[in-house]
Amino acid sequence: MGTSRNVLEVIRGIYNVDQLLSGKEYIRELIHRLAKALNVKYVMVGHAIKPQEKSVLTDYLYSDGKFIDNVTYELEGSPCADVLCGTRVSCYGENVQHLFPRDQLLKDMKAQSYMGAPFFSPDGELLGLLVVMDAQPFKELELMTSVVEFFAARIGAEYRRLDVEETLKQHNEDLEKLVQERTMQLISQEKLATIGRITLGIAHELKNPLNIIINASELLMSSEIDSESRRRALDMIYQYGVRANDIITNMLKQARQDENMQPERIDVSTLLSHALDVFFRSRNDISLKSKLRKSIHISPHVELNLIDSPGVERMFINVIDNAVYALSEKLQRSDGGFIPELRVDLHVERGRCQIRIRDNGTGIPQTHLLHVCDEFYTTKPPGEGTGLGLWVAKQMVEKNRGTFDILSKENEYTEVIIEFPEVFLLAEPEVTS
Ligand SMILES: Nc1ncnc2c1ncn2[C@@H]1O[C@H](COP(=O)(O)OP(=O)(O)OP(=O)(O)O)[C@@H](O)[C@H]1O
Ligand SMILES: [Mg+2]
Repeated sequence: MGTSRNVLEVIRGIYNVDQLLSGKEYIRELIHRLAKALNVKYVMVGHAIKPQEKSVLTDYLYSDGKFIDNVTYELEGSPCADVLCGTRVSCYGENVQHLFPRDQLLKDMKAQSYMGAPFFSPDGELLGLLVVMDAQPFKELELMTSVVEFFAARIGAEYRRLDVEETLKQHNEDLEKLVQERTMQLISQEKLATIGRITLGIAHELKNPLNIIINASELLMSSEIDSESRRRALDMIYQYGVRANDIITNMLKQARQDENMQPERIDVSTLLSHALDVFFRSRNDISLKSKLRKSIHISPHVELNLIDSPGVERMFINVIDNAVYALSEKLQRSDGGFIPELRVDLHVERGRCQIRIRDNGTGIPQTHLLHVCDEFYTTKPPGEGTGLGLWVAKQMVEKNRGTFDILSKENEYTEVIIEFPEVFLLAEPEVTS
């Protein structure tokens, strides 16, 4: 047993430990200092195993200057049973084995003396016990009691702190898990949404060529078809079959991030004329066709550097399709006085190619105008529109460094204005110095 001075120094030293260590390391250091101050062979810190609380599991077992493996022992017949029932220190300064003959641990340790103190959380909950034992009888029992009580109180506070820390850690882990699960759910939802989007995209792109093929086939099936129309219908079926195939090939290329699409010099005048031609030849609605006034002004041979020229042609068809839809809607609603008009104009202005496609159909309300180029924005009934036409069109133009604008007034007109830079005119002006 150390001197009183020694003990006081150790107790003072605890305040340094407070600042340097925390958690299990702190408790180990306390145990180590306690063993040294009291000069005892064994120190044990443990807790009763719930729910029956018939045995104790040691959390720290210190023997002869080092920590050894923890053990479990029966409470019945052990001095620890009283410790865990009481509130203060239990002490057997000598002969402890004789007093508790059924306690195997005391025997194994050859313990002569025993002192145990329960420790509590700051709010009074019993958390465990601190025991010191020695192979010699204890001396200075009063001083030892105070020291053991003091250490037990410190250990109790640290146990509670660790407990709170553990609960917090558990909460954090649970939260982390929840966030991870939620993120996984969102990712899979996003994946599904992407798949849906791709499917809609493919559906939208294929709809036009397939419609053309279907209409041309219907034409072929009618009995009054002359040989010239027959040849043209077959030609369209072939051309648009190839087109549908190209669309799929391009989409696959894009899906594989294949960026080797190079700009090609394309006659955009021919591209637009062709789009108009194909579109109207494939339309079967006689009532609109017979009333429609078309005013088409396309300056010939305007060439541009274009990426994905079939895509640009599809873009023209999308815009024309919207215009014709708006015209036939208005025609259906009108009482006969309405004359549907479609104006298409392509010309070069200050080195830029400007294309205007204008209809005097239903028009677009001012509040909708901002959204018509949004993905999936449509006012058409399901099955008639996917809301991708203008979104794709705008992207296609921008991919070719052009601009895409829409002017409209509800019930009066809609005008799509597309501009492409870098026009190549076939007859370039001579440079004179
Ligand atoms: N010329 C137009 N006149 C009136 N409204 C138009 C016109 N063009 C586009 N809109 C409006 O913009 C919306 C979006 O057009 P967009 O082409 O993107 O999709 P959609 O035509 O509805 O469907 P789809 O994907 O089949 O083209 C249309 O639903 C329509 O409300
Ligand atoms: Mg459309």
